[in-house]
Amino acid sequence: MFVSDTHLPQLLPVAAYRDAAWHARELDGFLRSAWHLVATTAEFPQVGSFKTCDLLGVPIVLRRHADGIAAFVNVCAHRFARLAVDSCGRCETLRCGYHGWEYDEVTGATRRIPDAPSFRPLEKGQLGLVTVGVEVCGGLVFASLDGSPGQVSDRLAACAGDVPRILEQSHSLGTREYHVDVNWKAAVENTLESYHIAEVHPRTFGTWPDERECAHALRTDGSVFSGPGDKRSWVRSLEGHLLHRCGKERSGAYHHVHWHPTFTMAYTDTFVVALSFLPESAVRTRVFVCWLAATGPRNDVIAHAGLRMWAARQAGFWLRVIAEDVALLPRIQSGLNSPVMPGVGLISRREERITHFQRWLLDRVGPAVGAGAVAIQSQECLS
Ligand code: FES
Ligand SMILES: [Fe+2]
Repeated sequence: MFVSDTHLPQLLPVAAYRDAAWHARELDGFLRSAWHLVATTAEFPQVGSFKTCDLLGVPIVLRRHADGIAAFVNVCAHRFARLAVDSCGRCETLRCGYHGWEYDEVTGATRRIPDAPSFRPLEKGQLGLVTVGVEVCGGLVFASLDGSPGQVSDRLAACAGDVPRILEQSHSLGTREYHVDVNWKAAVENTLESYHIAEVHPRTFGTWPDERECAHALRTDGSVFSGPGDKRSWVRSLEGHLLHRCGKERSGAYHHVHWHPTFTMAYTDTFVVALSFLPESAVRTRVFVCWLAATGPRNDVIAHAGLRMWAARQAGFWLRVIAEDVALLPRIQSGLNSPVMPGVGLISRREERITHFQRWLLDRVGPAVGAGAVAIQSQECLS
């Protein structure tokens, strides 16, 4: 069942979905300090494996060292050349290809400077790479430009208690990413409601679930949708058999988690798909997608292979669903860009996780400038 008895207000003004000034407020207010899913551990198979990407407009490099994964701003401290150029690969050392400076792979401090005496006087540790926070939860790698360490697993558990355990009992099967012309919040909000299913996903999901089979949980830093999983008898039988051989029982449930601000994850007993909505600008988003297969405590090789094959098949379904959403998102942004809007919008009970997210966000950036009436109306409706 849904939480609210009535419709809810659209709290954010349209400026929040298109203005660079609003985007800057979000960066300062919560995006830089938040933890964002950026990779899976499977993308770092060996010591020296690295991956480069942008995080909130900042180029970063993640690299596996002997004891874990470290991340740095991908800019050399000497004359600011890009340190790692390729999107992924393996390198023996963190070495700049311009003048050959080398950096410690754990701390980012300078380790070797060619012709070092010519930089005299240079204090040890005076120059080095800018570190980026990294935390691993199960097979997922989170990064933060300004986050407090030791937060990801605990805060994920506070938002959706099962998630860290689910991730510990899964292994990564694949990743994909999309660059989409849409504000990141419009993309996130699209995942927080089942209202669009009949219109956008008639050939995959079909139609929205019955409210009597759904539950919304609104948490301090996120929200959870719970509903029925795949009810087909052969799926129930297959999953039940494979899970039992691996020492687990089938619940038959489906969950969708949003950990504010950018992390979402859908999971069943046998499959996990996580989506990270990483803002590139006010109107462009990189969507990082990864999917994982469940494992079990009992080491049944055949059953684990079966779970892996079944998860790979489910990934095909989910990638079709995601493609349907990705095709839709620029259309949403196109409407949001209009200088004339038909009112302030309205949120249905089925979409109530959106209002919850918007209130969380407004708590961190302050009331909308020039949209006071909208914010006041929202407080009245929610209190
Ligand atoms: S810019 Fe990197 S070593 Fe000179
Ligand atoms: Fe969708």
